[in-house]
Amino acid sequence: MSKLLEFEKTGFLILENFVADSMCDLLRRHTLDLVSAFDPEGIRAIFTTNEQSRITDEYFFASSEKISFFFEENAFDTNGQLRQSKELSINKIGHALHDLDPTFNQFSRTTQIANLVLELGLLSPLLVQSMYIFKQPFIGGEVNCHQDSTFLYTEKGTVLGLWFALEDATKNNGCLWAIPAGHKLGLKSRFIRTEKNNTTFQVFDDSKYDLSNLVALEVKKGSLIVLHGLLPHLSYANESPYSRHAYTLHLIDKSWPYPKDNWLQRPNLPLQGF
Ligand code: FE2
Repeated sequence: MSKLLEFEKTGFLILENFVADSMCDLLRRHTLDLVSAFDPEGIRAIFTTNEQSRITDEYFFASSEKISFFFEENAFDTNGQLRQSKELSINKIGHALHDLDPTFNQFSRTTQIANLVLELGLLSPLLVQSMYIFKQPFIGGEVNCHQDSTFLYTEKGTVLGLWFALEDATKNNGCLWAIPAGHKLGLKSRFIRTEKNNTTFQVFDDSKYDLSNLVALEVKKGSLIVLHGLLPHLSYANESPYSRHAYTLHLIDKSWPYPKDNWLQRPNLPLQGF
């Protein structure tokens, strides 16, 4: 079966050995350097102010055009101090690594990736968003069942997700789980940015996912999981002593109008292709 047929049938693809081990190691080392250079003091202020939700929203919105660091939910104690080292407290980095960081820019724009997304139907792709996800040992939080199109919606086509495993991802350390063919059930909700710069969910279908249909997408380091934007997926908390680092990219096509009420807006850094 061709990649495209399989992808259309199940809503996901697993491509083993897509990234060389040495490249996975290089990206992990590089990211740890970014974390070392990052001063959490400014961010700590965000979590100790009375206007917490407004300021965290602003930080989140601004991250569309930046390399921003997001902490695990319980990273700070009541005094606003980190409970453990920053290296073990960060949940993710996003959302413009692929444009602003030369190492991730180069990694995200290889001909190997360009050819794959072309094969999957994006004729003039744009790279919308990147995230480095740490899924920290012991405290890596659960990510509820969701569809990526909820957060990056487009009218004419469906956002494409690329999930690169930089370490082995197993049931033990919080691998992805997905509902095969679940992308055919339609979009359940949209995450909308309101005119007052708040966010809200617009719900189309409030039925619950049947989680008994989930399958574990356990993959080796270097594997790429391709995700259809409508595919329901989740990851459970990581309670193991092993991290589960991954890098993700989301792409759309230039010919699809990009809604102004998606949370991610790039007024100062126009979206680019390969
Ligand atoms: Fe997702």
